[in-house]
Amino acid sequence: MTDTLSVRDNRTGRDYELAITDGTIRAADLKQIAVDDDGGLATYDPGFVNTASCRSSVTFIDGDKGVLEYRGYPIEQLAEHSTFLEVSYLLLNGELPTADELAAWTHQVTHHTFLHENIKQFIQGFRYDAHPMGMLMASVSALSTFYPDASDISDSANRQLQITRLIAKMPTLGAFAYRNGLGKPYVYPDNGLSYVENFLAMLFKMSEPRYESDPRIVKALDVLLILHADHEQNCSTNAVRSVGSSQVDPYSAVAAGIGALYGPLHGGANEAVLKMLRRIGSVENIPGFIEGVKAGKEKLMGFGHRVYKNFDPRATIIKKACDDVFEVTGVNPLLAIAKELEKIALEDEYFVKRKLYPNVDFYSGLIYEALEFPPEMFTVLFAIGRTPGWLAQWSELVQDKEQKIARPKQIYTGTRTRDFVPMDQR
Ligand code: CMC
Repeated sequence: MTDTLSVRDNRTGRDYELAITDGTIRAADLKQIAVDDDGGLATYDPGFVNTASCRSSVTFIDGDKGVLEYRGYPIEQLAEHSTFLEVSYLLLNGELPTADELAAWTHQVTHHTFLHENIKQFIQGFRYDAHPMGMLMASVSALSTFYPDASDISDSANRQLQITRLIAKMPTLGAFAYRNGLGKPYVYPDNGLSYVENFLAMLFKMSEPRYESDPRIVKALDVLLILHADHEQNCSTNAVRSVGSSQVDPYSAVAAGIGALYGPLHGGANEAVLKMLRRIGSVENIPGFIEGVKAGKEKLMGFGHRVYKNFDPRATIIKKACDDVFEVTGVNPLLAIAKELEKIALEDEYFVKRKLYPNVDFYSGLIYEALEFPPEMFTVLFAIGRTPGWLAQWSELVQDKEQKIARPKQIYTGTRTRDFVPMDQR
């Protein structure tokens, strides 16, 4: 067997042999398949449904088998045995840390959680009803002005410093955005607490000397962050890579990722799921709602995935976390609607034929709500979890000699060269 693809161009009768590497052909190799000087053949792939944009050793997904691995470790094992900071280290460095490495990494992250006071004022400038994702995106991008040294992306120690800063400051930014909306005073980080405990304290602490969180809640939130930590070339990671390919600083690149995540087809789906469940209101209304979805009036949010066509392994783990959280908080009444929706959708031909299964966002919102987060905060939690993944991918990008500035082609469909028409003749 030869690893090549034979192509005949029926327009010219010419034959070509294209190399196949790692199950792909190089799109640039198609350029030689030209008629006269038309620039050669290109591929047309809206939404990149069948185009590899990079080589990556961060995350492996087998969508048909429901497999998700970070640096080769199955997500199920990481969710059970690891912590979010350890997983972040793994994603960024390729290997699990030793005890000393983890202690040093935890120390570094813990000691970068504070924000410059001007960032606080910047957040205070938003309207009382500003969406926290908009605030998060803007304040992450503003961080680039506080750390202008971050633009030196060629220096690996400097990159590491910005990575640590971002992972450390995301919960502080998220918590400040949350409290701004409620008009509550901001709570400064507490270096004596773990990553998740500190986040919960910054969100919920009032006048008590120290906020005590239930360890079961801490564990559930930590697992949720692990599940969201990376997902190979998804929409927001692609945005981070695309913007990062211009060699801009990592804050600006991650801000672009936050913008992409905000959308309802991506991370914004968890907020949309909760709103949908509330709108359905009771189990009796489900058949009518499902008919509407099948008639194309709307989507069943939290269902379907570009890659997973069997099941989303993250959804399976989240269902279990739901039980743990509800043991502490009491069952979220929307759970009954969610379970019934899932049952019907898994049997209904419309969903079965299209291989639509619950994704990570279907149950995560129920947990977040039980933890008393308003729906607007759900995607912020996703963003905090995804930050190490974005940064691991960004790091890989800036060190990858094969990468170039992202600049896709287009098929031009507009009018060609015409003379300017003066206003009085239009
Ligand atoms: N409800 C109803 N129909 C759906 C849904 C849904 N949630 N998802 C896909 N379909 C239908 C779609 O209309 C199409 O039908 P037809 O073949 O008749 O035109 C078919 O299934 C294939 O869908 P697609 O839009 O071509 O699939 P895609 O790979 O481009 O989109 C998706 C993937 C996740 C954007 C999409 O399934 C969706 O919009 N789901 C709802 C939003 C959601 O839950 N997003 C979270 C994704 S997981 C977390 C994350 O990555 O952020």
